[in-house]
Amino acid sequence: MNNIYQNTHQNMQKAAATIKNGGLVAFPTETVYGLGANVYNAKAVAAIFAAKQRPHFDPLISHIAEIDFLKEYAATDERVFALAKHFWPGPLTFVLRRIEENPSIDLACSGLRTLTVRMPNHPIALDLIRRSGVPIVAPSANKYQSVSPTTAEHVADGLGDKVDMILDGGACKVGVESTIIDLTGKNIVMLRAGGTAKEDIEEFLGEKVLLSGGDPNLPTAPGQMLRHYAPHNTLRINITTPESDEYYIGFGSLNGNLNLSPSGDLKEAAANLFAYLRLADSAAKSGKIAVAPIPTTGLGLAINDRLQRASYK
Ligand code: TXA
Ligand code: MG
Repeated sequence: MNNIYQNTHQNMQKAAATIKNGGLVAFPTETVYGLGANVYNAKAVAAIFAAKQRPHFDPLISHIAEIDFLKEYAATDERVFALAKHFWPGPLTFVLRRIEENPSIDLACSGLRTLTVRMPNHPIALDLIRRSGVPIVAPSANKYQSVSPTTAEHVADGLGDKVDMILDGGACKVGVESTIIDLTGKNIVMLRAGGTAKEDIEEFLGEKVLLSGGDPNLPTAPGQMLRHYAPHNTLRINITTPESDEYYIGFGSLNGNLNLSPSGDLKEAAANLFAYLRLADSAAKSGKIAVAPIPTTGLGLAINDRLQRASYK
């Protein structure tokens, strides 16, 4: 079975009609591939949870193509619009307070009083949202807790027949999911490290962004499970000297079977991360993978977050 489609005019029309009519379309974004549905169609949203085997308490991100749409959807203020104008389209997701008139999105929001929204920086994603005429909810297009997909083939491997169409946009340029920030309080709290560096948000706003996790008074994302992004093989992280039978993923001067970025470029490493975890998973004959230490600055924060969860037993 092949349900991978190129982005011709005809296929994009078909994909938009599929979304409008309550089907599921996987599509590329700059971060990872998303499994998309019409946010207002509860049956379609339910089908996402079923296809991924994802628990209903874990809410979905809405993807929009126009900043102005925010006003219909969520409580906004100047700070929200300033951040949107600066970082969108791009890998930054906002948690905002919901406005009351929207019961049809209850399921997408897992019943929370907040919702998450972002504008993806990918022409196919933006084109699909515009043609569909509705916000598209989309989690990463993989089975719950497994490695996220950065190519159309990854989506087909994991979800294949559970998706009506998979739009092919090649490999995702950023390679790790969006950064999620909670904008419902006075302080900005980062719920998930991702494709937008914490330092860039702090520099733009001239204020510190707090890190969720550890402090019970700060908000958290329901989907930040300790085990997530996990390959089938065992994974050890922060390894400078791998064991002889381990499949080694290097970084910088530490070479291995693969190297996330020989030049030590964290953006390149993020873009390669999930694809290399998949390669290692199929190539590691011993069933053991080890990964070199990655700095925790810039996109390194997101890479380390993913590796820690992937290695959690
Ligand atoms: O880059 C991305 O963000 C990708 C692409 C497809 O856009 N999407 C993605 O979605 O990573 P997903 O479902 O795999 O991760 C969304 C995360 C989950 O951890 C979820 O718990 C959290 O966002 N989340 C969603 N709504 C939330 C809310 N109202 N409050 C707190 N966390 C929320
Ligand atoms: Mg995910």
